[in-house]
Amino acid sequence: MTHNPEYNYKVVRQFAVMTVVWGIVGMLVGVIIAAQLTFPILNFDSPYFHFGRLRPLHTNAVIFAFGGCALMGTSLFIVQRTCQTKLLSDKLAAFVFWGWQAVILSAVITLPLGYTTSKEYAELEWPIDILLAVVWIAYAILYLGTIVKRKTEHIYVANWFFSAFIIAVAMLHIVNSLAVPVTFMKSYSIYAGTVDALVQWWYGHNAVGFYLTAGFLGMMYYFVPKQAERPVYSYRLSVVHFWALIAIYVWAGPHHLHYTALPDWAQSVGMVMSLVLLAPSWGGMINGIMTLSGAWDKLRTDPVLKFLVVSLSFYGMSTFEGPMLAIKSVNALSHYTDWTIGHVHSGALGWVAMISIGAMYHLIPVLWGKKQGEMYSIKLIDLHFWLATIGTVLYIASMWVNGLMQGLMWRAINDDGTLTYSFAESVEASFPGYVVRLIGGTIFFIGMLLMAYNVWKTIATADHVLGDEPLDKQEASV
Ligand code: HEM
Ligand code: HEM
Repeated sequence: MTHNPEYNYKVVRQFAVMTVVWGIVGMLVGVIIAAQLTFPILNFDSPYFHFGRLRPLHTNAVIFAFGGCALMGTSLFIVQRTCQTKLLSDKLAAFVFWGWQAVILSAVITLPLGYTTSKEYAELEWPIDILLAVVWIAYAILYLGTIVKRKTEHIYVANWFFSAFIIAVAMLHIVNSLAVPVTFMKSYSIYAGTVDALVQWWYGHNAVGFYLTAGFLGMMYYFVPKQAERPVYSYRLSVVHFWALIAIYVWAGPHHLHYTALPDWAQSVGMVMSLVLLAPSWGGMINGIMTLSGAWDKLRTDPVLKFLVVSLSFYGMSTFEGPMLAIKSVNALSHYTDWTIGHVHSGALGWVAMISIGAMYHLIPVLWGKKQGEMYSIKLIDLHFWLATIGTVLYIASMWVNGLMQGLMWRAINDDGTLTYSFAESVEASFPGYVVRLIGGTIFFIGMLLMAYNVWKTIATADHVLGDEPLDKQEASV
């Protein structure tokens, strides 16, 4: 197949490289904070290196920098290929890339300095929030504008998911970040009390639903069929679970506010909607996994496909666990414990990171003018796959053990009504789990270093990039 040299692959290549770079930075900070929770001496008594400041740096770096670059890069590739048209504007594409890097760099500088709104996943102060909104709207215009000028009649389902992700995140970010600035780097939210909490978790949960789920499902709907060389299992299912997901996700946020000042009925709505969410979530998982029908044998030899399929299994697992955690009586045990952290990382490492890594291993050789599957070393991808899987399992299993143990220790009472364990005793008992999490996280991180080496070698040995084929290759592919 010949590729249209007019397509803008440059911005995709830029985002692809930065996905690997930010993945390493974000996960390194993850390993550091995991070490700090195990050995507090590693805070070094320095405010700039303290857990409290590095934790938001970790979440921002992995979600917005690593995940964001993966989502923007793949979406801008997929929209051109499936709509058979070039991006709306090269200048706008460059603005989106550099603007996004500027947002990330601002986060990397301001968070360790202690500038924060204190809203989780929305910590950045108002000038950066405004820049983020401008860049995001530019991204929305670029992406949706490209769909509008498509040459195909049909809009492939991956684009539906990306569109929902882009529109919802614009709305969530703008509404949740509304604030009154008081100085250059300090502002106060326009919301207060319970309303603030509800808006924050409407944002927070829909960030999970539209950013960490819908966006990555868009990625899944392109790369799983491509890598398996099979059509999507059921196109109808993809459309049905798309509408069900976006209709239900928006109601589930209150499950983050069980047993708070939020009215009880609102908590119950959040719980019920979360339980219902299991169905459309599993619709996506089943659709992805069943796409392998007739191609299961490829799993034996293709580590990229292994990444993609195992990520779907973790997606299924975390979207089963989520509804369970949303049940009020279960949440009474799990909330505040490491169980939540385990749940987060079965979604974050198992689903988000693994699908992104699989997508990059598919995309990078193609972008640098090689054939699909022509990464420098397939053996290294296989090794990376095992490191990522073992690292994730160690991380989440240790957090399950810690979480259940903490929840049970905190609620244990003696006959006379006094607490059986002090809080410090539960911290002490959590130590082995923290060591195992640190080992798991380090193993996952080492896999990322292998990936960087493999990507570097693949790029270094490329003699041209996609869309810029040497004449002899162009003739050969006519
Ligand atoms: C090497 C890999 C990673 C390690 C070692 C790691 C480690 C950690 C640690 C130690 C925490 C703090 C837990 C606590 O406060 O008790 C944390 C929080 C978090 N991490 Fe990671 N992480 C890794 C990768 C990722 C990735 C790839 C993502 C997302 C795509 C992610 C998303 C998060 C989120 C959202 C939180 C906050 C959870 C909450 O507040 O409930 N992490 N991580
Ligand atoms: C049907 C799907 C899901 C449901 C119903 C769900 C439900 C929940 C519940 C009940 C909590 C605990 C709230 C608390 O006690 O504070 C939670 C936390 C969390 N979940 Fe999920 N979850 C789902 C899927 C996912 C996925 C796929 C991811 C990530 C990729 C994810 C990321 C998170 C994060 C980051 C938090 C921690 C929020 C915080 O407190 O900082 N969830 N989820």
